[in-house]
Amino acid sequence: MTTTKTEADRQAITLTGAFTNYFGHEPDGLWRAPGRVNLMGEHTDYNEGLVLPFAIDRSTTVAVSARDDRTVRLVSSFGDAEAVEFNLDTFAPEDAHGWSAYPAGVAWELEQAGVPVPGFELYVSSDVPVGAGLSSSAALECAVALALSELSGARLERTQLADIGRRAENNVVGAPTGIMDQYASMLGTRNSAVYLDCRDGKSVPVSLGLEESGLVCLVIDTKVSHAHANGGYAARRASCARGAHQMGVGALRDLDSTDLPRAERTLDEETFRRVRHIITENERVAGTVDLLRTHGPHAIGDLLDASHRSMRDDFEISCPELNLAADTARANGALGARMTGGGFGGSAIALVSTDDAARVKDAVLTGFAARGLQTPDIFAVLPADGAQKL
Ligand code: GLA
Repeated sequence: MTTTKTEADRQAITLTGAFTNYFGHEPDGLWRAPGRVNLMGEHTDYNEGLVLPFAIDRSTTVAVSARDDRTVRLVSSFGDAEAVEFNLDTFAPEDAHGWSAYPAGVAWELEQAGVPVPGFELYVSSDVPVGAGLSSSAALECAVALALSELSGARLERTQLADIGRRAENNVVGAPTGIMDQYASMLGTRNSAVYLDCRDGKSVPVSLGLEESGLVCLVIDTKVSHAHANGGYAARRASCARGAHQMGVGALRDLDSTDLPRAERTLDEETFRRVRHIITENERVAGTVDLLRTHGPHAIGDLLDASHRSMRDDFEISCPELNLAADTARANGALGARMTGGGFGGSAIALVSTDDAARVKDAVLTGFAARGLQTPDIFAVLPADGAQKL
């Protein structure tokens, strides 16, 4: 019997070979975790609100083997050829730097949670573009968390592993992010988005039905790199905390549109706009889920557009390149388009009829070229399964 090798099989064989070449023995196993796009609900996660991301068909894979001492050796197909090496007994979060802070941070946070992590050897490869707002960091964290959980025999719940990944990012990498990306990467399912309530951590899959509706979700990676650890993201978080405090609620999640007049009277003009984005964005997430369930993906375009305007004008996390990408996609037939992720660069998504995809892509490329901007990377993504052992 002959079997046909898929692209994923080929990548697994290449990674196993690279691991074996480097470390001189085969790995114990391979674990992969996807990146994500967010369909709706930006900056709502750390306000205990609603989000609707989906895991994408681009992922990070780690080949790992356990050691019988406490040494960790980390190599990547994209970093230096030399392994980053440290000992779990002497590691401190402030020692971590570069990409190795993610796997090191996950090992550290698992140990903080009482999981006895063995020393390990790890080789990573990924096709999630770094810095594109597609959660390459969560993909790496979740792949490593799943691998180490299994190798240590702890077998934590997926939601616990997602939380380990978030804590690694907050405490070791130093980015004050919320929980959305890791949940999407751990809990994604084929063809569906993850409707997550970030207050109680409960989630349900919501069917997207893109293919059967003749639609594609295009990612437009503007190549404007974003950095969550510094600047804008933390400032928005602080504004939201201030707004909640001045409105007398524990989290902005506790407010809805009926509170907007009081918010306008109570808050300074800028904080009011930040708060208005969170309130309306939570309502757009719930509205998107309703529309998907009742009318399918053709119906959500206006909400995508409204979300982009809110991020551009009220939350002020867009940038000229993201606006150009979304506007051009819309002007050339997209049903809706919005920036996705933390903002200040990264990617926009556009919901496009399959027949219009080539036209939208050409128009965006032409628009960027005409302004002398860097050529964006434009590709379709499909909702995929979450982290798994291969
Ligand atoms: C980044 C963070 C997430 C979330 C988004 C914005 O992706 O990692 O926690 O806050 O930005 O929605």
